[in-house]
Amino acid sequence: MARDRADMEELIERAGEARLRAYAPYSGYPVGAALLTRSGQIFEGANVENAAYPTTMCAERIAAFSAITRGEREFDAIAVVTLNGGAPCGACRQVLSEFGGDLLVIAADAEGEIHLEAKLKELIPHAFGPQDLAQP
Ligand code: THU
Repeated sequence: MARDRADMEELIERAGEARLRAYAPYSGYPVGAALLTRSGQIFEGANVENAAYPTTMCAERIAAFSAITRGEREFDAIAVVTLNGGAPCGACRQVLSEFGGDLLVIAADAEGEIHLEAKLKELIPHAFGPQDLAQP
């Protein structure tokens, strides 16, 4: 399905709304994500922190795991909203790369201003993938 700017604006808006539901009492850095599937659905995620810090989960991975749990595996775009438009972390880039490098990644700030817009494969070149598991 063709995607236009209005779709991306809606995705950013949905990520911004999800950000308001983040549980981030330790970092004080709430993150919202909205993942658009090829089928036109949007799955949201927000970071969920924990007193045992490393068990925290990022917004993007929650959105991805939620979509995958609903049977979706093809994704067109993901919007990530933070206070300052920060970029997705390396772990989230790796997880998303499992499902294709053509994913459009948009990082926006809380005002909806876009700070980064790029294909996932530009953000994680030479990602580890199934091909790396092949026996020589
Ligand atoms: N965080 C995300 O949710 N996504 C990212 O891509 C970067 C970091 C969260 C994890 C933690 O709750 C907070 O932001 C600060 O690192």
